[in-house]
Amino acid sequence: MRIREMTINDYEEVYRLWASAGITLKKSDEREEIEKMLKRNPNTCLVGEKDGKIIAAVMGGFDGRRGYIHHLAVQPSLQGQGYGGQLLKELERRFTQMGVKKVHLFVVDTNKEVIGFYEKNGYIQRDELIPMSKTLLDEI
Ligand SMILES: CC(C)(COP(=O)(O)OP(=O)(O)OC[C@H]1O[C@@H](n2cnc3c(N)ncnc32)[C@H](O)[C@@H]1OP(=O)(O)O)[C@@H](O)C(=O)NCCC(=O)NCCS
Repeated sequence: MRIREMTINDYEEVYRLWASAGITLKKSDEREEIEKMLKRNPNTCLVGEKDGKIIAAVMGGFDGRRGYIHHLAVQPSLQGQGYGGQLLKELERRFTQMGVKKVHLFVVDTNKEVIGFYEKNGYIQRDELIPMSKTLLDEI
């Protein structure tokens, strides 16, 4: 798998990949929103390609304090072959180079089976934290 930075030209292919991998997609995943994400985080939104086709994708965002990992996904027929781990490692390497000390991610509770993958990659569950959110503009 060849890993490179995601561009907005990848949008349709990446969106299809996310949908096929069961990622919950919302208004915040529409083209203009992803374009904003890529502009702010050009080095940490990545795709993995095999034979010219995108088989894995992830978005990393850095807010100046913590890194956040969004929508890590591998094409379903190629899962369990190490590609997700490779893409995650490359994102972590880039975050580390930027001086990011800690990264967070959210797992939806209907997708608990993915927790084992993250634990194998060194992530720990934070039972003492309760996520809270507030919508400031239209629901996205
Ligand atoms: C989660 C996901 C990205 C992992 O990518 P992948 O390519 O399938 O995973 P890898 O092959 O790199 O797995 C790496 C390790 O995690 C382990 N692993 C993978 N899934 C696991 C699971 N459900 N439970 C326990 N371990 C798991 C593998 O055994 C492997 O360990 P090993 O190297 O010791 O054998 C991929 O399965 C996926 O796209 N899932 C659907 C989308 C999704 O839920 N994304 C996460 C959003 S938070």
